[in-house]
Amino acid sequence: MKRAPIEVFSDWAENGRDIGMEKGHENSVTHMLNFATKGLNNFSFIDAGCGNGWAVRIIGNNPNCKKAIGIDGSKNMIKKAKDLDKKNTYIYSDLMKWKPKIKIDIVHSMEVFYYFQNPEKLIKHINRFWLKQGGRIIIGIDYYKENKASHCWPEECGISIMQLLSEKEWNSFFKIAGFKNVKSWRVGEKDNWSGTLVLTGTK
Ligand SMILES: C[S@@+](CC[C@H](N)C(=O)[O-])C[C@H]1O[C@@H](n2cnc3c(N)ncnc32)[C@H](O)[C@@H]1O
Repeated sequence: MKRAPIEVFSDWAENGRDIGMEKGHENSVTHMLNFATKGLNNFSFIDAGCGNGWAVRIIGNNPNCKKAIGIDGSKNMIKKAKDLDKKNTYIYSDLMKWKPKIKIDIVHSMEVFYYFQNPEKLIKHINRFWLKQGGRIIIGIDYYKENKASHCWPEECGISIMQLLSEKEWNSFFKIAGFKNVKSWRVGEKDNWSGTLVLTGTK
């Protein structure tokens, strides 16, 4: 039987599969972080669905970052992040149920948004409640229509909610949510792997 995403990832935090994700996502995330932070000083940053917090720790060491926050709906992931890092902030919450007290410059997310029943609603929530005017959202997705090699993952991982959407559909969610300068591209394409689909836009 398939299980909810957070249940599955809580097990992954316990059995060490979070480290495999970190290694597998590192290339794409490095590319995304470089793109989003280029030329910025004194920026604030959120990793939405931060897992064990590895990307928060990377950005937290960037001298231009004044505040780095990781949020995840898995208690085990957040416990792991807090045990590893006392400097940055980690919050245990469903992304749809949380709002920062002070709006943020960059919202980053890797391999998270398709685990939502309604990703369009999440993108609107972030636009409305999380980002400053002029702030940037950047997300990476490996499970999407054009990347046929990823289509077996719901069966392989036993996860109930995984929305299989096209590059065009993801782009339209960003535009409908009110983001400007929306664009998408792929990182790390090889053989039958279409690469990480990166989407970004500004508020
Ligand atoms: C594939 S993992 C990616 C983790 C991390 N971004 C990385 O690259 O290693 C997806 C993460 O999204 C989190 N997640 C899934 N649904 C969520 C929700 N509704 N609210 C908050 N976090 C959620 C999971 O707990 C998990 O840590």
